Amino acid sequence: MKLGSLNLENRYILAPMLNVTTSPYRRFCRYFFNIGLVSCPMIYTKRIAKNPESVEKDLFKIEEENPISVQLIGSDLEALKKTIDYLESYKFDVLDLNAGCPSKRAIKAKEGGYLMKDLKNLKILIQIAVKYSAKPISLKIRTGYEKPFNIKEMAKLVNDSGLDFIIIHARLVKSNFSKGTLDLETVKELKESITIPLVGNGDIINPISAKHFIDYTNVDAFMIGRESMGHPEIFKQINEYLVNNKMVSFKSNRKTMEKYFKIYENIIDEFLDGISHPLDNEEIKFIELKRNAIWLSKNIDKSTNIRNQLSKTKNLIQLKEILGNFFSFKS
Ligand SMILES: Cc1cc2nc3c(=O)[nH]c(=O)nc-3n(C[C@H](O)[C@H](O)[C@H](O)COP(=O)(O)O)c2cc1C
Repeated sequence: MKLGSLNLENRYILAPMLNVTTSPYRRFCRYFFNIGLVSCPMIYTKRIAKNPESVEKDLFKIEEENPISVQLIGSDLEALKKTIDYLESYKFDVLDLNAGCPSKRAIKAKEGGYLMKDLKNLKILIQIAVKYSAKPISLKIRTGYEKPFNIKEMAKLVNDSGLDFIIIHARLVKSNFSKGTLDLETVKELKESITIPLVGNGDIINPISAKHFIDYTNVDAFMIGRESMGHPEIFKQINEYLVNNKMVSFKSNRKTMEKYFKIYENIIDEFLDGISHPLDNEEIKFIELKRNAIWLSKNIDKSTNIRNQLSKTKNLIQLKEILGNFFSFKS
């Protein structure tokens, strides 16, 4: 499928998630299904402008992960220009601008979600990105700041922008991640009013919610974030349902968790091979495996105890010991 000038294998996108969608994580999700596009978590333009080399560790071996999107957050125009210039030598496929982050830090710095109420600066930032970057540009927005944006105004901004596509998290910035706040109506109205592709995002947790989202809004593609944590088969499940009308179930149990844990460990080892990281590689491996073990256990019966134990581990040896006992337990 096409998203602007970008050609993708399919219409599924792994969302950018800070401290989650690292390179091993993205590779792990792609192991189960050839996800059309994966996203790096947001990178602060001010940080790159000040210390460009600091971004190196975020983009190790990025050329092995195409198609992949790199997301920037920041509202300083000079910092954006410098960042774009610095990043051009990296082999990635889309440059995404963050206009949705609801964190206190972002709002205070007048960046991310704040841009939903500062369309003037948003427009200038887009113009700079489109002018200075040779890559396709996308924009990730929400449905408004504290009330839905004016459709005509947003559609004009988008249609005149030169962007390749838009991603919309179907919530207000003020709604943060609260349950029951999804606004598909605004997504639908925006889709009807714009001339570039729209990617829908927010609370897609199974094939049914994906179908409902697309039926209601007619978006061109999906972005999925939180559900992939501990449930990497979600993309495959949705695709089977939408393309082949098949409901494929995946049962979470100790056996599958053990298998997935091993797959994750192999992926990390392969990724770290040849990298001398500022942080100790063993520490990276521990952090990655610990949080993914916690997520992978979330759908297993009677697993609260194991999660408590895992969260207290301090190193790889402790982690593997606890998991070894858990995996070998016969219920
Ligand atoms: C831990 C976490 C980190 C996130 N980091 C980012 C980020 O770096 N950039 C961004 O645009 N959105 C970020 N998001 C928002 C997600 O990309 C996505 O829009 C949101 O989770 C809604 O989609 P979902 O319901 O499929 O999770 C983050 C969300 C979570 C839970």
